[in-house]
Amino acid sequence: MKKVLMVCLGNICRSPLAEGILKSKVNKETIFVDSAGTAAYHIGNLPDVRSIEVAKTYGIDITNQKARKITVKDFDVFDFIYAMDESNYENILLLARNSNDKQKVKMILKESDAAKNKSVPDPYYGGNSGFENVYKMLDEACTIIARKLA
Ligand code: 4NP
Repeated sequence: MKKVLMVCLGNICRSPLAEGILKSKVNKETIFVDSAGTAAYHIGNLPDVRSIEVAKTYGIDITNQKARKITVKDFDVFDFIYAMDESNYENILLLARNSNDKQKVKMILKESDAAKNKSVPDPYYGGNSGFENVYKMLDEACTIIARKLA
């Protein structure tokens, strides 16, 4: 079983979408996907309604998800840890205990554009179009991740 963790700040906007999108592209028997946030603000909450809605538009249901905070134990469980943005990336690395932990962490958009260190923009304070944009970026990256994991 390969295990993938998607990480953003609140675990209610970007990483729940990344989790739902990747799950829709992989074999659940061999690949486990989860998500978490670096902050505790929204622990136990459902994804943001705008993430739920954009996922639904593409036939993906993410209403079974609940926000949680990343912990150091996640390094023992997961093989690949994807950060949505630079700040998430740095906060995840602060939890890493050693180089083995560190090498699991990658910026998710590096999968779709290795030359750039692009971030998935935080859509929390914007409108619905921000969520559509985030969805498209994550869909492209997750297509590549799914192909690599297969
Ligand atoms: P996310 O978006 O990190 O993609 O889940 C955010 C959610 C909540 C907040 C910020 C970003 N917040 O400040 O509460």
